[in-house]
This record gives sequence, structure tokens and C-alpha cells, in this order.
Amino acid sequence: MLTSTALNVVILAAGRGTRMCSAQPKVMQKLAGRPVLQYVIQSARTLSPAKIIVVYGYGGAQVKAFLENQDLILVEQPELLGTGHALLQAVPYLDRGARILVLYGDVPLIRAETLKLLIDACSENKLVLLTQFMKDPHGYGRIVRDLYGSVIRIVEEKDADENLKEILEINTGFMCIPETCLNDLLVRLENGNAQKEYYLTDVVELAVSDGMNVDAVSITDSDEALGINDRYQLACAEKALRTRSALVLLREGVTLMDPERIDVRGEIVCGKDVEIDVGCIFEGQISIGNNVKVGAYSILRDVYIGNDVKILPYTLIEESRIDDSCRIGPYARIRPGTKLGREVHIGDFVEIKNATIGNETKINHMSYVGDSEVGQRVNIGAGTITCNYDGANKNRTVIGDDVFIGSDSQLVAPVVVESGATIGAGSTITRTVAEGTLALSRVKQTSVSNWVRPQNNNKQE
Ligand code: UD1
Ligand code: CA
Repeated sequence: MLTSTALNVVILAAGRGTRMCSAQPKVMQKLAGRPVLQYVIQSARTLSPAKIIVVYGYGGAQVKAFLENQDLILVEQPELLGTGHALLQAVPYLDRGARILVLYGDVPLIRAETLKLLIDACSENKLVLLTQFMKDPHGYGRIVRDLYGSVIRIVEEKDADENLKEILEINTGFMCIPETCLNDLLVRLENGNAQKEYYLTDVVELAVSDGMNVDAVSITDSDEALGINDRYQLACAEKALRTRSALVLLREGVTLMDPERIDVRGEIVCGKDVEIDVGCIFEGQISIGNNVKVGAYSILRDVYIGNDVKILPYTLIEESRIDDSCRIGPYARIRPGTKLGREVHIGDFVEIKNATIGNETKINHMSYVGDSEVGQRVNIGAGTITCNYDGANKNRTVIGDDVFIGSDSQLVAPVVVESGATIGAGSTITRTVAEGTLALSRVKQTSVSNWVRPQNNNKQE
């Protein structure tokens, strides 16, 4: 008997992926920043199955390391003898009487809602396939139906003659089948085909000859069944995901200057009236407040951004927190561990690393501030450098509130500049600058009158 709650998912992920031409197993290739396999696992989880079994094989150590601690049952396929053989490895781990949903680890864009249709159609003594009509079915298994429209078998591209290749209905690889029928079908598979493999797809013909009910649920969304076998298909999947996340953002009210030119490789949450210009990349966890503008070709990774922030073009921000009303860029680099207070201005060719910058502080041109604590309303002149590294250790620079640092100064850490202090342009500061004082460390200017510039005596007219 099938019970409505008993669902087991098996994900086949042991294949090598020869056509990727990569040392990495195919299911570990990155799609929008995450392994292809992760998407399939995520869809499976949405269905709340009693268990998820992943069959792994090629690149075993790497795949296993990635899958560990994810609450999955991992089963090794010791030899890669085909998809039918892969599923057979999972049989001892299945719940008696459960519905078994088979997913392919290299088909990542499938939506959980679609899988739900497949599961709902599966009942006792009935095998259900997910199929799709494709304009270009090349490379996929074809669904063969009899004169009455019933599915009778699946033929792989490599085993199909010219007539069968004309069939536009393809096997997505997703299948739901009662556990009670599975083992009996799998053990009868043979490998007398073009690839000398035990094809899971051959269970269809066996099931039909056993008098089992075989049905197909068809989908129309063209990208859901996209299998990733080579770099071209990987690029197509990346494009499809890009479009999906752009659509989500547009529906949530974000302005995208060009929905075709934004990459979201993680999770992004935006407030109201956010505008994102072309070519931006968002990675990891991104939180953006209200009324924020992100300039063209900026890259943000694991960033929190408050309200009313302006990020000007070509800015890179990683693992940082940016409070309200800051203005950053163009061409700024904000490295991990940075916290910018309110109304901070960071200008062009400024690099900030592991530093806390107080409210209303301005670092507008060509500076490096690293391992530092900078107070409020500080003005850091062009070309200022915190010399945080002595060749062995990183040292901290502490700058109080209302400090003014003249252009082209070096602060040799560890060093403290107390509140209200001023540093004259071109100074190299190595010791504490006391509160409210002026520190200068440069050669006094001298004037030589009647100075004659050197002449070039060999110069020919
Ligand atoms: C398979 C189907 C094909 C379908 C297509 C959909 C078979 C025989 N063919 O073809 O009908 O149209 O997917 O994308 O099933 N795997 C293992 N162990 C193995 C071989 C493969 O775990 O020994 C895994 C792979 O890691 C992959 C999945 O099974 O995730 C599919 O294998 P692949 O070789 O990519 O099959 P296709 O030729 O794409
Ligand atoms: Ca495939």
C-alpha cells in the first residue's frame, strides 16, 4: 500500500561528466555560485520527503565532503554502469511501500511545484515520467508512444534511428515509481545498448510488459528540464537562472536598468525604490535598504547596506556593513571586515579593509585605510596610507573624532591620532599625535633665488 506521506527521493549524481572536460565531477560545477547538485537537493527538500538519498561515485571524496552534514543518505556507486545501476544501489535504503522520486543531479532548474505534479500522479502499480516537448530534443531520451498515445518505452539518442530522432517529446529524467515495483524492474535491466550501460529508462518497457500503468506528466517551461552535460548547457542554465532572479527582483519593485545584465549568485533582499544599473554581480547574502542606487559594474558579496546609500560605478564591496546615506565609489574597494557609519563618503581608488569608519567621515581620493578605527567627521586627504604591515605583523591605526589628515600622509601603525588633531600634508606619522595638536613631519621648504635649470648642451636644433 502507498501512503501519502511516504516519499523517498533518490538523486543520481555519480556520473563523470566527460563532456565538461573538467577534473571536477559534473554535479560539483558551479551554477550561479553554487554546485549544480545543490539546486536539485534544494528542490527535493521543498517536498519534505522522509529521506533523500544521493548516489555518488566519480570524484567521490569531493562530492562526499560537500554533502556531509546536510542530513542526506549517501550511497556509493562503485562502478559507473549507468543510471539504472545507480538507482539499484539505493534500493536497500528505501522505505517499504514509499513512492520513490528519482532526480538526476545534473538537471538543476526543476521546480518543486513541477515535481509535486509528478508525485501526485504516482499511485500503486503506476510509474510516472516527467516529459517535455522540445524544439531541439538532441541528446535526450525520446518518449515512444503507441497508436493510442500510451507511453511504451524510452529510446536514448545514441540508440535511436532517424525516425525516432524526429520525436520531440523527451525524457527529463524525473520519474516517480512505487518502491514495491522498483527492485523487480531494476534487476532485470540489461546493457545491450550503444553505451553498454544499464539504462534506468529501460524500466519503462519492462513495466509496460508487466502490465503496469505507465503515465507521463508533460511540462512546457523550456528551462526546467535542461540537463547539464557540457559547458554550453551550463552557460544556458546560468542564463536561465539570471533571468529568474531578475524577474523576482522586478516583481518585488526593484528597478533594473537591464534585466539581462545582472547576476545574482546568492540571496538578495531589497527595500523600496532600489535601482541597480547594468553589469552588477551580487554574491552570498545581500541585504539592501530603501532608496539605494547601485552603479554600473559594481560587485557586492555578503554585504549589508542601509537606506539612501549611493554606490557609484565599478565599486567592489565584500563582507562589510554600510550604514545609511553613505556614498561609495566610483572605483572603490571595500574589503572584508569594514563597517561604515552614516553619511560616510568613500571616493575613487580608495581601499578600506577591516576598518570601522565613523559617521560623516570622508575619504575621498586614492587612499588605503586598513586595520583601523576612524572616528566621526574625520577628513582623510588624498593619498593617505595607513602602513599597517611591518613585514611580519598587522598593526592598528586609531584616529579620533574631528581629525584632519593632510594629503599624502602615512600613518605608521601601531599609531594613534587623538581627537581634533591635524596632520600637515605629506607627513609620516610614527608616534601618537595628541588631541588638538598639529603634527608635521616634512622637510622645511626652502627657496633658492636665481635658480638656473640644468641645460641640455648636446641638444641639436
Ligand atoms: C539521461 C537519460 C535520458 C534523459 C536525460 C535527461 C538515461 C539512460 N538517460 O541521459 O533519457 O533524456 O538524462 O537529462 O538515464 N549517473 C549516475 N551513475 C551512472 C551514470 C549516470 O549516477 O552510472 C547520474 C549522472 O551523474 C547524472 C544522471 O545520472 O546526474 C544522468 O546521467 P547522464 O550520463 O548525464 O545521462 P544522459 O545521457 O544525460
Ligand atoms: Ca545528463
